[in-house]
Amino acid sequence: VRTAAVIPAAGRGVRLGPGAPKALRALGGTPMLVHAVRAMADSRAVSLVVVVAPPDGAAEVTSLLDAHALPERTDVLVVPGGESRQESVKLGLDALPEGYDIVLVHDAARPLVPVDTVDAVVEAVRDGAPAVVPALPLADTVKQVEPAAAPGDPEPVVATPDRSLLRAVQTPQGFDRATLVRAHETVKHDVTDDAGMVEQLGLTVVAVPGHEEAFKVTRPLDLVLAEAVLARRRL
Ligand code: C5P
Repeated sequence: VRTAAVIPAAGRGVRLGPGAPKALRALGGTPMLVHAVRAMADSRAVSLVVVVAPPDGAAEVTSLLDAHALPERTDVLVVPGGESRQESVKLGLDALPEGYDIVLVHDAARPLVPVDTVDAVVEAVRDGAPAVVPALPLADTVKQVEPAAAPGDPEPVVATPDRSLLRAVQTPQGFDRATLVRAHETVKHDVTDDAGMVEQLGLTVVAVPGHEEAFKVTRPLDLVLAEAVLARRRL
């Protein structure tokens, strides 16, 4: 069974501060997106990577990827993305050739996911799960609040879910292709991850152990952490 990875990389990354689209920012001198593509290509299971570029940035992303070495056994396709992450993933799926029956969806914003995590997700899909997420227990207690009327105002706490039952979910998320395509055709309201759409079809999503280094580069502090992880790997 052949596996493809779709990498949505069309976000502007405003929370990271001003500058280039997030996926094109450098980590250890190499664009975050290149790290993410290599992280997928490092898995022997993955033979195609579909990169979903900013809508007006497909040419730039193509030349950027051409300028960096990738394993020869991996094909790369670049397609323009959309307004939302969900739309970008859908456009990536639409571009998938026949013959790839397992699809990974991986955020460009998680450039440092280890290959063992990628392989564990693929393995669980091969074993029959329609959707698989890498997940970690939470360090923080989580509160549900009544959102404040104005930013910065105190927010009443309405509930404290049992932390031991909660997981923070990462990517790559892995799918049986037909299931993911059906989820994208059926669920039209906003979701924050692809597995959530599969849950809404009434199917069971399973979680496998994630990895600390698969964290999402969202805020400026995450860039500091990512640089430190890379520096440690180079020792
Ligand atoms: O904004 P967030 O960090 O949740 O974005 C997760 C991933 O989705 C990023 O890799 C980002 O580039 C991608 N994205 C996209 N198209 C959008 C918005 C986000 O491909 N319109």
